[in-house]
Amino acid sequence: MTKIRLRHFVLVLATLTLLVGCGEKGVVTTLDVLPTPAYQNVKEGTFTFSGSTRICFYNMGQNSETARYVTRSLRKMHFRPSLSGSICDNCLVFSLNDTTASDLGDEGYCLEVNGAGIHVSANTETGLFYGYQTLLQLLPNDIARTRYSKIVLPQCIIIDAPRFVWRGSHLDVSRHFFSVKAVKAHLDLMAMYKLNRFHWHLTDDHGWRIEIDKYPELNDVGSWRVDRSDVPWGEALPAQEGEPTNYGGYYTKEEIRDVVQYAAERHIEVIPEVEIPGHCAAILASYPEFGCQEDDTTYQVQIGPYWPPRAILCAGSDTVIQFLCDIMDELVPLFPSTYFHIGGDEALKDNWRRCPRCQARLRELGYDDEEQLQGWMIGRVENYLKHHGKRIVGWDEMLNSSVSPEATVMSWQGMQGGLKAAARGNDVVMAPTEFCYLDYCQGNPDYQPLAMPCELSLRKVYDFDPAPTSMPASDARHVLGGQANLWTEYINTLEHAQYMLLPRLCAVAECVWTPRDKKDWYAFRRKLVGHKQRFAALGYNFCEGSFKPVAFTRQNPDGTYQVTLDWEVEGTLVYYSVDSNPTEEANRQLYTAPFNVPEGSVVYTISFYDGKQREEVYNFPIGKR
Ligand code: ACM
Ligand code: ZN
Repeated sequence: MTKIRLRHFVLVLATLTLLVGCGEKGVVTTLDVLPTPAYQNVKEGTFTFSGSTRICFYNMGQNSETARYVTRSLRKMHFRPSLSGSICDNCLVFSLNDTTASDLGDEGYCLEVNGAGIHVSANTETGLFYGYQTLLQLLPNDIARTRYSKIVLPQCIIIDAPRFVWRGSHLDVSRHFFSVKAVKAHLDLMAMYKLNRFHWHLTDDHGWRIEIDKYPELNDVGSWRVDRSDVPWGEALPAQEGEPTNYGGYYTKEEIRDVVQYAAERHIEVIPEVEIPGHCAAILASYPEFGCQEDDTTYQVQIGPYWPPRAILCAGSDTVIQFLCDIMDELVPLFPSTYFHIGGDEALKDNWRRCPRCQARLRELGYDDEEQLQGWMIGRVENYLKHHGKRIVGWDEMLNSSVSPEATVMSWQGMQGGLKAAARGNDVVMAPTEFCYLDYCQGNPDYQPLAMPCELSLRKVYDFDPAPTSMPASDARHVLGGQANLWTEYINTLEHAQYMLLPRLCAVAECVWTPRDKKDWYAFRRKLVGHKQRFAALGYNFCEGSFKPVAFTRQNPDGTYQVTLDWEVEGTLVYYSVDSNPTEEANRQLYTAPFNVPEGSVVYTISFYDGKQREEVYNFPIGKR
């Protein structure tokens, strides 16, 4: 079977576009909102939204953030409702609550469609913004590319508020550079799914991406590398003498302000990440003096694989500490977020062990291992940021040394780091590889573009719970939320980034927004059908899904096994056979319900979608063999 290349996904997109607009044109009958709201109820009756519907911003300025955003967005859909100064019949109303509704908090909203119109209310403009995102999802799936003169909506009430305050999406712009336009497209996607923390991974071995006045070499040297886009990431050779360094770029301060403002209009906080002390080859290529003594490596802005990551800033050098404070001085005015991410992951200490300066610092501080030295270095930066009213977030390697109680730990090496940190009283953001690394392949690699050599299916992502039931309540309150991470070693375009994110980002969004007891995999899977049509209408690239079924088994009292099959693309027909070849029609049957097989059997599956066999015959050995 040949590997599917990215351009083929354009065909998938075109096919799905043809599906848009099923049912009576402009008549909406189901609420397929993602993330699933905390409460929703569909009632009898409809309301028709049309050119004659007026709009009212009640209890708030006509020029408020919400009014401007909503008006601009409606115009894009060719609706230009005239303003009404008061709530009237046939009206779309946005109102700020006079008295705080405690169940809505700072981000919740109430959306009611009744015979008189549509009413979105909230305690805050953030809540109104989310109410509007929900309303957008009530409109037909192809609204982004179809002009409707009227839309018939079911009468309903939705009362909604998020489970977690940190609903993050991370984007690595170092391994590959993404333009401001691409970053804004990413923010649009986040807003659609009510994600509110953009973790911008701005520095790494493969490129420094922020304009810095005081250290111009960071941009003249550190932001550029030799272009190896013509070979797979894993096969890229180091730069040769004299090769031009013409791949990369950086964001000017003006561009950063623009992105931060764009994000704020979408109620997204931008959290910048500057990697300390490792992942710094781009810094050392620009300023070799920030490296350790006795390290005679000539660092290049890295190309391709970076393991083991030996580049590290010298912890014994006061100039390095000053450099970090100078960088923060330039970043603090650009990023209003309280949180600053200081990295801290995967910093090999080989150079520190050999460096007389680092060893002198270690002795001076009375430490006996280099991990404590990393804790000290990060503590210095943390204190400096604290004076500017900021709090640090760091990867879970932070736990290898003493961590200040105010630091937020981002748990990536599984959930354990987060569980431990929460038990110690630190705030935690869960972003474990096994649920949240959306750079991993979404299914069988034979049917996916080249990616990190690990698999993370949509089904698995959907099982993510940032604060699992096993956590004591006193620890769980330290879990701020969760986050999807997109590392871009294998991803060099927005289209490919969207392909990796969609639809798995929708699953992460549901895991961080929706109350645990309202999550429902089968409902989610069904809703995705419409959301994929929405992506197509918006011109977003996305993954059609994996067609490899999942087999769950349970042993019966008589020793046989009950087999349950599940799959991730709604509408897939899964056939199975037991101990025989399922490509023979006579051997197979359509899966409709769990079935029993003797221990030691092999269940074979074959999947069809849209009339065609998808992927290959998979086999599942049952019990002991
Ligand atoms: C990480 O993935 N190294 C944080
Ligand atoms: Zn050193």
